[in-house]
Amino acid sequence: ADGDPAAGQVVFKKCAVCHSIDAGVNKVGPSLHGIIGRKSATAPGYDYSAAMKGANKEWTAKELDTYLTDPRAVVPGTKMVFVGLKDQKDRDNVIAYLATLK
Ligand code: HEM
Repeated sequence: ADGDPAAGQVVFKKCAVCHSIDAGVNKVGPSLHGIIGRKSATAPGYDYSAAMKGANKEWTAKELDTYLTDPRAVVPGTKMVFVGLKDQKDRDNVIAYLATLK
């Protein structure tokens, strides 16, 4: 909670390798446009892993905070090969930035 979206935009460079913020634009990972409040594995046209299809989450800020701490522990078998953001401030900031993408 209480992140800084401008700082989060800088943190997002780590995500932008694999994620676009534009609606409908999937890269290695699905578009993160409108991710806050979205149901997991629902970006149109994106081929999710079986693990993510079965995760059955709603990406609230709290759920994202948990996921981004250790993605492969929270969704075992996910094809998001990313170690996560270990710093709480980085997570708060990137989530605040993601909240602006709607
Ligand atoms: C999936 C966020 C970094 C590749 C996801 C999802 C979220 C997310 C929320 C689930 C999307 C959905 O359910 O529609 C982030 C954030 C990142 C980040 C905020 C940076 C802090 C990365 C990186 C890569 C990556 C660096 C590539 C090396 C993927 C892939 C998926 C995914 C392939 C699909 C997972 C699956 O189907 O199992 N990401 N991600 N992500 N992400 Fe990331």
